[in-house]
Amino acid sequence: MSPFFTRDLGIDLGTERTRIADAQQVLLEEATLAVIGWDEDRPKLVASGDEAAAMLGRVPEGLEVIRPLQNGVIAYYEITESLLRYLLRKTAGASWLFRPRVMITVPHGVTSVERRAVYEAVLRAGAREAYLIQTPLAAAIGADLPIGSPAGNMVVTMGAGATQAAVIALYGIVSADTLRKGGLALDEAIVAYVRKKYGLIIGQPTAERVKKEIGAAVPLDEELSMEIQGQDQVSGLPRPVTLTTSEIVEAVYEPLQEVLETIRRVMEQSPPELVSDIIDRGVALTGGGALLRGMDRLLTKELGVPAYLVDRPLHAAAVGAARALAIVPRLKRHLPRVG
Ligand SMILES: Nc1ncnc2c1ncn2[C@@H]1O[C@H](COP(=O)(O)OP(=O)(O)OP(=O)(O)O)[C@@H](O)[C@H]1O
Ligand SMILES: [Mg+2]
Repeated sequence: MSPFFTRDLGIDLGTERTRIADAQQVLLEEATLAVIGWDEDRPKLVASGDEAAAMLGRVPEGLEVIRPLQNGVIAYYEITESLLRYLLRKTAGASWLFRPRVMITVPHGVTSVERRAVYEAVLRAGAREAYLIQTPLAAAIGADLPIGSPAGNMVVTMGAGATQAAVIALYGIVSADTLRKGGLALDEAIVAYVRKKYGLIIGQPTAERVKKEIGAAVPLDEELSMEIQGQDQVSGLPRPVTLTTSEIVEAVYEPLQEVLETIRRVMEQSPPELVSDIIDRGVALTGGGALLRGMDRLLTKELGVPAYLVDRPLHAAAVGAARALAIVPRLKRHLPRVG
């Protein structure tokens, strides 16, 4: 390796999962989770990433599971830093000597304090140089959208804790908005629905499983169903119930209306020429939430714009962030500033 060798990595720091990629592919993906213990009064990291996720629900007394990101922003600074260090070293392996240049995602519209927290965390975690990029811009690059053209592109990124919509042209964001709610809010809506309709208590993991297996944003031609176990609200005893797709459509209606409102607002704030480009090209859907069946049809039905799921919707932002390092001079004045 030449003495000038450096590695360019993109990091998509997500509420649920963190992905590290180069310009081609995701190299490492783990849960954004940590288990901490206490050494005297100081927090001590016991497990990180997927190792921490494996301990969920069976954490011994005295230890605590922490989700260091909440709704897309850092809630626990030092834990985020430790987690990033762990993941970066794991990705770099033996080449750690050549510390990477890193481009890391932040939701559009986060405060300068939140931006600085991410920037410092990644530098202190070992990056040689760090840049921030808005998640939807990174996702657009990762999805190969022609972001440099003067015509408008629209990207919607639906994560676990946040939903972001952005119109992009000439390498920059023209208008964008972030809803600090995502897939977890759909899970909570399903939990509430099952409690209200069946008097049954289920946990978020069960709700998420139902959402993925039979859920949809609009009614489907073929109705799916699934039996789950809950706990009777009154007797406390376990009881099964069979849920159907149309029930999930009903359960997630409200949170999806908020998603549509966010997208509508961003379109309203964009110049009419760009909106007509978007109607021609369609809205690109990225992030795990975009995998909900019928999301594309919901947008077409409610907003009158075509929409499509990008290739590798879960990986687009991380790969796009890595690719963005190659075009920093062109992107620079559009990237979130630190300080
Ligand atoms: N097939 C599916 N149908 C519906 N939702 C899904 C599906 N697959 C994943 N999801 C949801 O996608 C979300 C995770 O997406 P993603 O990994 O993009 O989030 P994240 O990057 O960790 O969070 P954020 O970007 O909000 O910080 C979860 O809420 C998950 O339930
Ligand atoms: Mg994300």
